[in-house]
Amino acid sequence: MALLEIRDLRPEFGSEVIGLDPSVPLDAETRRELKALFDERGLLVFRDINGADLRFQTYISELLGEDGLVDPDDLPIFEMLVSNREERGGAPFGRLLFHCDMMWIEKGCTALSLFGQNVEQPAIPTLFASAANGWNTLPDDLRARVEGRFAVHCQDATAQRGGSIPEDVLVSTFAVEERLTLPIGYTHPRTGQTLLYVCPQMTHHIEGLDHDESEAMLETLFDHFYAEEQILEHHWREGDLVIWDNITLQHARPNVSMQGPARTLRKVMVPCPLNFATGIATYSKVGD
Ligand SMILES: [Fe+2]
Repeated sequence: MALLEIRDLRPEFGSEVIGLDPSVPLDAETRRELKALFDERGLLVFRDINGADLRFQTYISELLGEDGLVDPDDLPIFEMLVSNREERGGAPFGRLLFHCDMMWIEKGCTALSLFGQNVEQPAIPTLFASAANGWNTLPDDLRARVEGRFAVHCQDATAQRGGSIPEDVLVSTFAVEERLTLPIGYTHPRTGQTLLYVCPQMTHHIEGLDHDESEAMLETLFDHFYAEEQILEHHWREGDLVIWDNITLQHARPNVSMQGPARTLRKVMVPCPLNFATGIATYSKVGD
């Protein structure tokens, strides 16, 4: 049995877990404790967990992101990197606006994790916002305006959202365009929480509104959702493991430069995206 120390990072979401031994498998009580904490808090941070190799990262990410039992001997191990140094690294430069990975595929990606593999300081942080908190704190009049409405999501709406996007924002281009329409007040398939389910990177428009009305409504929702006081910043160090619910929590980052400090984060997606062929992107910036 693990003796885990838990420290809340924000009142509404996010906890640091201290004292976890990164072994595969974890004992049953530790699994239950971590799973309950993950569903309640949405994001777990483990610092200085240098024994967390890719196998452990995959194991614990699968454990927390999926309902079924995880077979430690049959893990879908697939290494991805977010890096401004490694040639095969994804999102190598630029600012990322708030989003959920694979938001254009329903139940496409339940959990994400990043491990600080090569991190020079000062490291660009990852920013998190909670869609459950966004919905719960929505002013009544705004909630009444969006309740019953649907939003259309795509792989990257950035280039289509007009002139208000800063020039350092990363734009991803995909070979095949996909879209998904979901309620703005979306019910989380596992936790049952209602989420404010829109984001600036992937929400293309709100159905039933013309372009200007849709943009105005989205900007109002974004101002509420991403208000500075609602954001959790994770400042990276080597040996950090951060795991989060990719449906409840959205992530973003300020501008990363390929000439800046090394920032290589090992990434695991749940489920493993080997079948998501359309998730492969090429990168540019809004200003290019
Ligand atoms: Fe992402």
